[in-house]
Amino acid sequence: LHNLETSTSVLNQFIAEIRDEVIQKDQMRFRRNIERIGEVLGYELSKKLTVTSREVQTPLGIKTVIVPDEKLVLCSILRAGMPLHQGLLNYFDKEENAFISAYRYHPDDSDAFEVVVNYLAAPSIEGKTLLLIDPMLATGKTLENTYHALLKHGTPKHIHIISVIGSVEGVDYVKTIFPENTDIWIATIDDKLSSRGYIVPGLGDAGDLSYG
Ligand code: PRP
Repeated sequence: LHNLETSTSVLNQFIAEIRDEVIQKDQMRFRRNIERIGEVLGYELSKKLTVTSREVQTPLGIKTVIVPDEKLVLCSILRAGMPLHQGLLNYFDKEENAFISAYRYHPDDSDAFEVVVNYLAAPSIEGKTLLLIDPMLATGKTLENTYHALLKHGTPKHIHIISVIGSVEGVDYVKTIFPENTDIWIATIDDKLSSRGYIVPGLGDAGDLSYG
């Protein structure tokens, strides 16, 4: 588990803004902050990718550089995942992408819900590194369900879960569901999960705040 809040940086400024009920009313700023957090998380996880060296011909000579060399599939969970996806795509700009939808279905007035997956467009993920992107990790049920749906497209060799905000309970649950070769990159974690499955104090609903 890589909780980036613990190493204080400008990232915490972005987190403070997306939590702030006044600042978050600016939808464009909210989306852009989520995107910026995606860039920071992507940069941090890039330090874990396998690398290769290659020679670059500059106008004045040759320089040997070490560059990441791992086939990634960036998979986002609609719809709140979109601005976070863009942040990662800003850095991993040559990679394959997948999209999957998931929503909470409340069959009655109770707090009980199931997660429904009904759209999935993905390349093969067999032997590749899967980046599973969702800004909110509340109960962890969405990640569980989308991961199982994605396995129809192959078995990834490594998984990176990328999230903005999580609950302790959700993070612990996800650790039990995913295989050992999984890293979780998250910007901040809160202690509480409400009976309706909302992170407290959290920030509200990232999908609504991004897209109304
Ligand atoms: C939210 C959020 C995550 C999910 C997390 O989606 O974007 O996908 O809940 O909750 P979980 O860890 O308890 O499964 P929501 O259903 O609000 O859809 P949206 O992204 O379209 O707003």
